[in-house]
Amino acid sequence: MKFRIAVLPGDGIGPEVTVEALRILRAVAEIHGFHLEWKEYPVGGAAIREQGTPLPQATLDACLKADAVLLGAVGGPQFDSLPRHQRPEAGLLALRRALGGFANLRPAICYAAIADCSPLKKEIVSDVDLLVVRELLGGLYFGEPRGSDADSAHNTMRYSVTEIERIARVAFEQARKRRRKVTSVDKANVLETSQLWRQVVSIVAQEFPDVTLDHTYVDSCAMRLVTNPASFDVILTENLFGDILSDEAAVLTGSLGMLSSATIGGTVDLYEPVHGSAPDIAGRGIANPLGAIASAALMLRYTAGLEQAADDVDNAIREALANGCRTADLAAGGQATVTTSEMGQSVECKLADIVDRRYAYHAV
Ligand code: IPM
Ligand code: MN
Repeated sequence: MKFRIAVLPGDGIGPEVTVEALRILRAVAEIHGFHLEWKEYPVGGAAIREQGTPLPQATLDACLKADAVLLGAVGGPQFDSLPRHQRPEAGLLALRRALGGFANLRPAICYAAIADCSPLKKEIVSDVDLLVVRELLGGLYFGEPRGSDADSAHNTMRYSVTEIERIARVAFEQARKRRRKVTSVDKANVLETSQLWRQVVSIVAQEFPDVTLDHTYVDSCAMRLVTNPASFDVILTENLFGDILSDEAAVLTGSLGMLSSATIGGTVDLYEPVHGSAPDIAGRGIANPLGAIASAALMLRYTAGLEQAADDVDNAIREALANGCRTADLAAGGQATVTTSEMGQSVECKLADIVDRRYAYHAV
């Protein structure tokens, strides 16, 4: 098998964490005997600096031809004064739209070894294993009309039946591979879009009689996420609610640096950690690469169809943490024990151990 990825390191800590994700993908390719090809392209602030635009045509063309896209992060304070469509974030949004992936999957898992990194009590977070399914191409992010004049500004929230149906199906299908529970999140007591959302999700649910569905308002969901997060399996929600709730879910895992994401359903799948470019710590080798590495694992799972390899990488992350590897964000007030690249190396070692153990077992 030949697997070609377009790598878009982007800004801030993006390049540092992407290198570690690539390290792991290379190791997996070696172990599983497939040919991995990758090439880097500029996006976001890096592309603005080089070419004056956050999503150069050559970058987009390369992404559209690749088997998958791996992105680091975009954005930085030096671009804050630019108009919206010239900002680094506009490059990411244009890329998402062009690739067509409408389903953004964001797993939040609390690994036992770092349960004490969360500001929430250990008893509350220790059993957390949830998946946020965020609609990524609709809602306020893309709704027209939008704009502003001297003394007002407006955005439009719009969802069609088709858009809701397709994201709901992804959530129910994911739930079938998990604990078969979907919590659909909306604001149906106030918004028309949410009333439609609730209606359509309930109809789609009939295709999945083996999955339990409950509906909850987004404010209440935000509260339940910090009071009883282990009660969630799959959280299905629209674009902006999903953006907010996934950052909240990150707190359950111990650090925003842990969260990974997969964007599927379009022509080319896109993988990116949930965290931003963290310009304050960029270039110092202290960023947590696990969100990027876990995103690479999602790429193996969803695009390459290598479930075993994906499980191996997730387990390697778990073991590296269990062994005491802590970047600064996971040090819970203490000292970091590893740098960004040492964390990547540790995961690579653990991955090799896991695979060796399996061969040893088969050999007996
Ligand atoms: C995310 C980010 C993006 C979003 C920004 C950078 C446009 O916050 O992926 O969660 O809002 O979708
Ligand atoms: Mn976000």
